[in-house]
Amino acid sequence: MTTLYHVLGAKQFDRELLDKLFGSAKEMEQVAARGGAQRFPNKIMSTLFFEASTRTRFSFESAMHRLGGRVIGTENASQFSSTIKGETLEDTIRIIAGYSDLIVMRHTDIGAAKRAAAVSGVPVINAGDGSGEHPTQALLDLYTIQKEFGGIEGLHIAMIGDLTYGRTVHSLSYLLANYRDVHISFISPDNVRIPSYVKQYLDEKGVSYEETTDLTGLAGTADVFYQTRIQKERFPSPEEYSKAEGQYIIDRKLLELMKRQALILHPLPRAGEIHPEVDDDPRAAYFRQAQNGLYIRMALIEKCLTEQA
Ligand code: CP
Repeated sequence: MTTLYHVLGAKQFDRELLDKLFGSAKEMEQVAARGGAQRFPNKIMSTLFFEASTRTRFSFESAMHRLGGRVIGTENASQFSSTIKGETLEDTIRIIAGYSDLIVMRHTDIGAAKRAAAVSGVPVINAGDGSGEHPTQALLDLYTIQKEFGGIEGLHIAMIGDLTYGRTVHSLSYLLANYRDVHISFISPDNVRIPSYVKQYLDEKGVSYEETTDLTGLAGTADVFYQTRIQKERFPSPEEYSKAEGQYIIDRKLLELMKRQALILHPLPRAGEIHPEVDDDPRAAYFRQAQNGLYIRMALIEKCLTEQA
């Protein structure tokens, strides 16, 4: 499957499509370095964000501008769109699809992007749906791993932190199932373990994984440390949150146990789980990772807009 219209979840991406997309993202690095290209001067992208965002919204908007297109939209859409007057998501999407060529949406509800796509006359890109998925983040995560290591097969990837509510780890797990000999260690407090539906998918695809609470024990063996924030806003109670928070912090002490060629990633924002003293270490790749989001999103926009024609 090499075509792409809506981008709703990471399971849509097979190896062939990933290779094509990463090739295009590499080309987009050159396009961005030249200041952009007039590829889509007559196209308009809508950004509709019902949840806060820095990286995803800004990088999508920057990506469209770099491709010569135009952007309309709203952050805080639950307040600043007619949702506040009781309009349904479906009606909102039908209307916005008439004003633009592509919709990038972040929503509070799992499955919202799928609902939007069902009524949209233009492609919909899922920029995060509650604690469900964040496929474009996972694409840039994987692109970063490939760039930094030169490949993905054979790597040991540790995903750390809030694996229940952290949507990026769900999407990244699905994408990793496209690569041979990958081993995943899911490291989390007991009350935010990786969901069984993610494990079921990995089982079906024959991906090797384990669950543990011990980060220090794996510090010397993993190639990639994918740290995540404990998603305070999604917990049912402050008591549940306090059971999960503050357990895994990547600091200089942990860095000393890691391989010299290891990579530390984080989708960001961070809230104390990577100490700033780590930032200057060459293994700390999270700011390079965020920059890669621009190139991946340029490649995605191009693919979605080209394939709608
Ligand atoms: N990684 C990520 O989705 O960041 P934002 O919430 O800032 O978009």
